[in-house]
Amino acid sequence: MKAITNYSYGGPEVLTYSDIETPIPVGREVLIDIHATAINPLDWHVMRGTPYFMRLMTGILRPKKFNVLGADISGKVIEIGSEVTQFEVGDEVFGDIFNFGLGGLAEYACVSEEALVHKPANLSFEAAAAVPVAALTAWHGLRKFGTEKWGKKVLINGASGGVGTFAVQIANSCRAHVTGVCSTRNVELVRSIGADHVIDYTQNDLAENEEEYDLILDAVGNLSLRDYKNLLAPGGHCAVVGFGGMEHLIKVGLFGGRRIKMVDFKANQEDLLKIKELLETGIISSVIDRTYPLAEAREAMIYLETSRARGKVIITNKK
Ligand SMILES: NC(=O)c1ccc[n+]([C@@H]2O[C@H](COP(=O)([O-])OP(=O)(O)OC[C@H]3O[C@@H](n4cnc5c(N)ncnc54)[C@H](OP(=O)(O)O)[C@@H]3O)[C@@H](O)[C@H]2O)c1
Repeated sequence: MKAITNYSYGGPEVLTYSDIETPIPVGREVLIDIHATAINPLDWHVMRGTPYFMRLMTGILRPKKFNVLGADISGKVIEIGSEVTQFEVGDEVFGDIFNFGLGGLAEYACVSEEALVHKPANLSFEAAAAVPVAALTAWHGLRKFGTEKWGKKVLINGASGGVGTFAVQIANSCRAHVTGVCSTRNVELVRSIGADHVIDYTQNDLAENEEEYDLILDAVGNLSLRDYKNLLAPGGHCAVVGFGGMEHLIKVGLFGGRRIKMVDFKANQEDLLKIKELLETGIISSVIDRTYPLAEAREAMIYLETSRARGKVIITNKK
């Protein structure tokens, strides 16, 4: 099968359009004919082997695992292992396969059925592939501190990106008053997906904003701990999903009950089924910026690394 492989650490130049063996499903595995894959910042972190601590998992000098990137996939089941109980050949599925070694930048992927759920009928393969990592991250970030914050003031930093576009919609559906932060060209987009108020960070310095928020989801990671403290209402909470440096790795309790936490979660079927419900009822939908064919995944990665994507970047796999 055709796949995009990476056998050394580096920039997008390490990605190669290659022929590799098509895997065979055993036990609880299913073989998926991949129709679409979304790429995420986690893919270029693995590609570059940064932050360096990540190499403890992927290989110190070169990637010994994760040699085909791509966590978010959607496609059709074409073969099943002998112990598979949830899917049949022909089922349309989507899921986050990070916990099973990545592998989405390929024509086929072999993965445990635990990574997958049935694709909603009202969603294209591209729209489904856009969902798992970004929507699950937004979901976990916003739910991290429980539901008592719903209906209150929520700030989404990075509101126009993959995580941010889902976070704005999820917060909006919980009757929060949502403020999104983005640059000028994305103000209308962020408003259109449900933000009550939009801060254009090119015109207004967030550090000087005098509003206070009950919940912040930071999908950029460019704010200092002092900024968080200034922006949080007493008792407010901040979930950091963007990696802004080592200081953000520390869980910090601040005065007045304000708390900051890194979002750290493992994708699972139970949460993906909740996200699926939100998609089926139209509460959330994917914002897709660009699509590229599999052979041009390197160009897609170059674009994603600019951190200017509006919603998701998709790789399609038309045969
Ligand atoms: N902890 C986890 O489990 C987890 C999971 C997923 C992602 N993440 C992290 O979360 C972050 C966001 O991921 P993503 O998929 O949303 O990335 P993304 O789609 O690449 O984000 C791109 C967006 O970021 C916005 N942006 C860039 N600089 C900004 C700034 N200074 N202020 C506000 N917005 C800014 C851009 O909007 P403008 O062009 O308008 O600036 C663009 O729309 C990444 O750091 C990623 O590694 C963490």
